[in-house]
Amino acid sequence: MRKIISVGVALLLPFLAACGSTSSGGGTPSPSATPTNAPDDGSRLVDAAVAGGRLVGAAVNHGPLASEPLYGETLARHFNYVTAEYEMKWNPIQAAGPNSYDFSGGDAIVSFALAHGMKVKGHALVWHNSVPTWANDVADAAFGPLVDNYIRTVAGHYRGQVIAWDVVNEAEADNGSGLRDSIYLRKIGSGFIERAFRVAHEADPNALLFYNDYSTEGLGAKSDRVYELVKDLKQRGVPIDGVGMQMHISASGHPPVADIVTNMQRLTALGLRVNISEMDVRIRDLGGSTSQRLDTQRQVYHDITKACMSVPLCHAVTLWGFTDKYSWIDAAYGPDDPLIFDESYQKKPAYYGMQDAFFSR
Ligand code: XIL
Repeated sequence: MRKIISVGVALLLPFLAACGSTSSGGGTPSPSATPTNAPDDGSRLVDAAVAGGRLVGAAVNHGPLASEPLYGETLARHFNYVTAEYEMKWNPIQAAGPNSYDFSGGDAIVSFALAHGMKVKGHALVWHNSVPTWANDVADAAFGPLVDNYIRTVAGHYRGQVIAWDVVNEAEADNGSGLRDSIYLRKIGSGFIERAFRVAHEADPNALLFYNDYSTEGLGAKSDRVYELVKDLKQRGVPIDGVGMQMHISASGHPPVADIVTNMQRLTALGLRVNISEMDVRIRDLGGSTSQRLDTQRQVYHDITKACMSVPLCHAVTLWGFTDKYSWIDAAYGPDDPLIFDESYQKKPAYYGMQDAFFSR
């Protein structure tokens, strides 16, 4: 759970945590502020992932990476795959206008990752939620070429530095009725997906190219739509390499693991890879004591990681953050503790759930 704290209190936090006297402020109690976490066994999560033949990734936030040494140390110690949480999206790169590109945030994340031997996935070239305001005024006929040019420039800039891109993010409507309404659909038409993959491939022929979405992890109308979409792309020779399943889930209700595996299997049967691309597991709706809730969270992290382990072409499990100190969930869903390190960068039971699953091969 992200806290707004003064610098003075921040300096005291480790001491207060050691005394068991931190509190998350009003509202939901913070599980990670209690002494229920397992003692640190000195392990690195990446060793388990490598033993399991998988990449283990985290979305990275440039702010704490630049200002908080423990953030970068924890990231580099436990993960071998990195994704920019925000900085490599269209709006931050071109907020100032069509002729200016700001790669500073993305470059800093990529340099950190490469300097620490981690691989990088770019995220995301086409996403309806990160379109710069000025782009809304671009004439329909000019919008397609503008997006082509953007993809060419950005994928070209990071060519050789990233191993993969989320090319198109969240294009399907929530009810499984077809493509969602978006500026891309309105101004380019339904061909915008294929076009984005083709341009990205030209710009970086070695990068693995993914379609990425949420609520498409298990079985249902929306995941059927994604299946049909990528099957069609693949059959027509569009350069798509795989599908990312975001996996923003709640421990109190998530797709059955068997459905997730079945879905992964039908996608990989098309010759595509899959990956878990943005996992976090909310626990605020769970009943029970703090340690019971953390235990349930451990089980969910274990089971989902295990699902990936059971599908040979599921090559990576990426979390959307890694410490409860910085999670988008707090703003999007309300205060929670959805990740595998607590606010003091200590391992939670969920860490060991993932570790066990990676070692289960
Ligand atoms: C979120 C980031 O976490 C936030 O920091 C940002 O402000 C908005 O985007 N699905 C995605 C991610 O594909 O890009 C989103 O990330 C979370 C939902």
